Formats: sequence, structure tokens, C-alpha cells
Amino acid sequence: MAKLGDHIQEADWKTEKHVPLIECPASVKAAEPFEVRVGIGKEIAHPNTTEHHIRWIQLFFQPDGGKFIYQIGNFEFTAHGESVEGANQGPAYTHHEVAASVKLNTSGTLYALSLCNIHGLWQNEKRVKVA
Ligand code: FE2
Repeated sequence: MAKLGDHIQEADWKTEKHVPLIECPASVKAAEPFEVRVGIGKEIAHPNTTEHHIRWIQLFFQPDGGKFIYQIGNFEFTAHGESVEGANQGPAYTHHEVAASVKLNTSGTLYALSLCNIHGLWQNEKRVKVA
């Protein structure tokens, strides 16, 4: 039987518009806040319409040597041009990029998972070293 993870897609973010790009320092100081930005379509724009959009991004942290993964945040994008006038006639669109302030006590890997409403789940990761 297939597992959920079998349906999570990966690719080079520079050539595939769905891949979430994690931007943060490669090395940070222990217990000091730093900014993590996660965005979709940095190189090739992803649509943001009522019919086709990014629904959410989730950010996780897997500490080196740890057994379990930790959820850092869940970011929902809930405005995609909907309105009583019809699809794409609304006044607001949530752009699919987020910034979070994060503190780490140990080195590990950040994982971003995103969902396109019609093209499924996509992931990316970035190593972060804690000095
Ligand atoms: Fe898509």
C-alpha cells in the first residue's frame, strides 16, 4: 500500500514552480532568533488564482540525531480572488510567501511542505548549523 510520503514531490526549485524555497542563514547562534522565509515560485512564478493556488506551507525541524520531527509553523493562504462577483474578481490575494522567527538549540534540517490545490504536495529542505 502506498504511503502519504510517496505522494510528496521534489524537484529543483529553479526549474519547478511548486517547490518551496527555504531562505535563512546556513549557520546561526544557539537560542538566538533568526528569520526563515519560505516562498513558492521564486524563479518561475506560480499562479495565484481562485482556480489554481498554493493553499498552505508547513515548516518542520528535524534535529540531528533526533528521533522525531517538530512542526515550526503552519501558514495558510486563504484569499485567492474569490468574491460575490465571481472567481478572480475579489479584492485580496494572499501571496504564497511567509517569514517566521525561529530559535534553535541544535543543528538540524528545516523541511518545508507545501500544497498546490491542483498539483499536490511538494517539499524542500535546508541544513542549519547551530554554532
Ligand atoms: Fe500548481
